[in-house]
Amino acid sequence: MNIHTNIPLKNHTTMRLGGNARFMTDVSSAAEIAEIYRNAKGQNLPIFVLGGGSNIIVRDEGYNGIVIRNRITGFDIIDDQPSDVTLKIGGGEVWDSVVQRTVDMHLTGIEAMSGIPGTAGAAPVQNVGAYGQEIADTLLSLEAYDSQTDSFVTLQSNDCGFSYRDSIFRGEATGRYVITSITIKLYKNAPQPPFYAAVEQYLAAHNITLFTPQVIRDAVIAIRADKLPDPKIQPNTGSFFKNAIVEAWQLTDLRANYPDIPTYDMPNGRFKIPTGWLIEQAGLKGQTLHGMHIHDKNALVLINESATSYADLASARDEIIGAIRDKFRIAIEQEPLEI
Ligand code: EPU
Repeated sequence: MNIHTNIPLKNHTTMRLGGNARFMTDVSSAAEIAEIYRNAKGQNLPIFVLGGGSNIIVRDEGYNGIVIRNRITGFDIIDDQPSDVTLKIGGGEVWDSVVQRTVDMHLTGIEAMSGIPGTAGAAPVQNVGAYGQEIADTLLSLEAYDSQTDSFVTLQSNDCGFSYRDSIFRGEATGRYVITSITIKLYKNAPQPPFYAAVEQYLAAHNITLFTPQVIRDAVIAIRADKLPDPKIQPNTGSFFKNAIVEAWQLTDLRANYPDIPTYDMPNGRFKIPTGWLIEQAGLKGQTLHGMHIHDKNALVLINESATSYADLASARDEIIGAIRDKFRIAIEQEPLEI
């Protein structure tokens, strides 16, 4: 295991900002993870696990600890039934390659999550979701190293506290577990309509009536290419804010002033309001603040056009949050994690 020192994290994160990692190392087995944690404990060094770096913001002071890059591979069929297949996937596998492989097997369940950057092990952390699917829908269980008890554990989906873009891994158990594998159940039947509105529109516009996982994957990739900037070309972390979740009474108040406000039903009588819409209504779409460009095609996405530091990004972020608070009295939240 090679441990490198003073590594610029901007070279390992798609927003391309922020300071150095004091130490950085790649791991390719669960045993290596345990070894690093045991050694780090003695030296009182914190540890952060990086997947693809596509949903992480790094502060300018960098990370005064060890950054581990999860490179654990694996793609195994562990159960094959007439109607479904259960797969165990290494936490370091590239997510979109996993999606492609399952689509090649004609399996449905994660095809709408095509084109998402990052790793399989990172997917449960923010309960990754797109175009009508989220990882919580297909995840049966996951294996993790539990740094609190220095042991390897299996967590069932119910143990993970999944909700919209959230889980225990970025909440109460932040920093506790390193996800070494995920186990997902996918189905052999064709994907069933109705699909997410943007997918339906794409299929109708292209006169597609035969729905296969590959057809949905192709549609999602085309929609994403149109709406989301490629992080390899324009540094970004996808959606920079979570969509806003509001109570019914808040929505009633908002509707009085904004009758056209788009909403989606959420559990417990709450509603989701697209933050992209809020930012657009606040007149910020297409603007550049402190070198951060608010994407012309989706105001939820911030592109690092010419920001030189995390401080620039934080200024832009705080101005946007302030504008939405002033106009709508809604507190929007940053979506990517921050170290
Ligand atoms: N909208 C606007 N203006 C905008 C952007 C959006 O009015 O500039 C409104 C429109 O009403 C639109 C609605 O927002 O119909 C929803 O927009 P879209 O379908 O593009 O999705 P989103 O809410 O912007 C979420 C996810 C994306 C995911 C898409 C598709 C979050 C934080 N983001 O975005 O995930 O790809 O849905 O399912 O939930 C990511 O997490 O990085 C990500 C890209």
